[in-house]
Amino acid sequence: MNQPKDKLIAALDVDSQDEAMAAVKKMDGALTWVKVGARLFSAAGPKVVTLLKQEGLKVFLDLKFHDIPATVASACKNAACTGADMINVHALGGRAMMAEGAAAARKAAMAAGYPPPMVIAVTVLTSMGPEDLTLLGISQTPNELAVHLADEAKAAGLDGVVASPLEVEVIKSAMGSGFLVVTPGIRPVWASLDDQKRVMTPAEAIKQGADYLVVGRPIFAAADPKAAALRTLEEMAEE
Ligand code: C5P
Repeated sequence: MNQPKDKLIAALDVDSQDEAMAAVKKMDGALTWVKVGARLFSAAGPKVVTLLKQEGLKVFLDLKFHDIPATVASACKNAACTGADMINVHALGGRAMMAEGAAAARKAAMAAGYPPPMVIAVTVLTSMGPEDLTLLGISQTPNELAVHLADEAKAAGLDGVVASPLEVEVIKSAMGSGFLVVTPGIRPVWASLDDQKRVMTPAEAIKQGADYLVVGRPIFAAADPKAAALRTLEEMAEE
């Protein structure tokens, strides 16, 4: 877990299985982890996870489940049966939903002969700033809400959270270093912000103590995605 390569999760935000597999083949072994999110999964289905695993990759299945506990438990069971190494739910779905989802995923993975996936909870989306929370009627700052939701996720028995790199330090100090923090909203100095608001560079995020960095467009929207991944890995090592 100490190599930058083992901490970088490249978000395969494409629209088909063919595009996903072509993108991965071009990376030529530069990646350990990829992320399959709602965009790819809703086009390609669970088979793409199997194919990525067959390429020797670890897969974060980022479907951010948020529903009643029974539905999320069934969805987490199915997600774990794909062999995904990491899955997630929304912390705002509540403690019972998170606990039932995690329990179902762990049980299903064991029954299918897979190691239990890491089950993590999304705290506050990195595309949301304080003004977006105000519009939702939430008076806490993103930072306060993220710590509160991380606490709920820990109480529900989850392995960690997805949070902005700006919140890593405060979450780690409140929850302990063993509680995973996975951070999207990573922007190397040379990349555009896109729709992300609460961002940090790869080196800064590693310095804050992030366990995994999720990077999408700076890698796969680059003219040379492999070079962009290698450059990101170099920046992570700069810490
Ligand atoms: O392209 P970019 O690096 O912004 O991609 C970030 C990825 O992480 C996207 O797939 C997005 O869905 C995901 N994500 C996020 N913020 C969260 C959780 C996941 O940006 N809080």
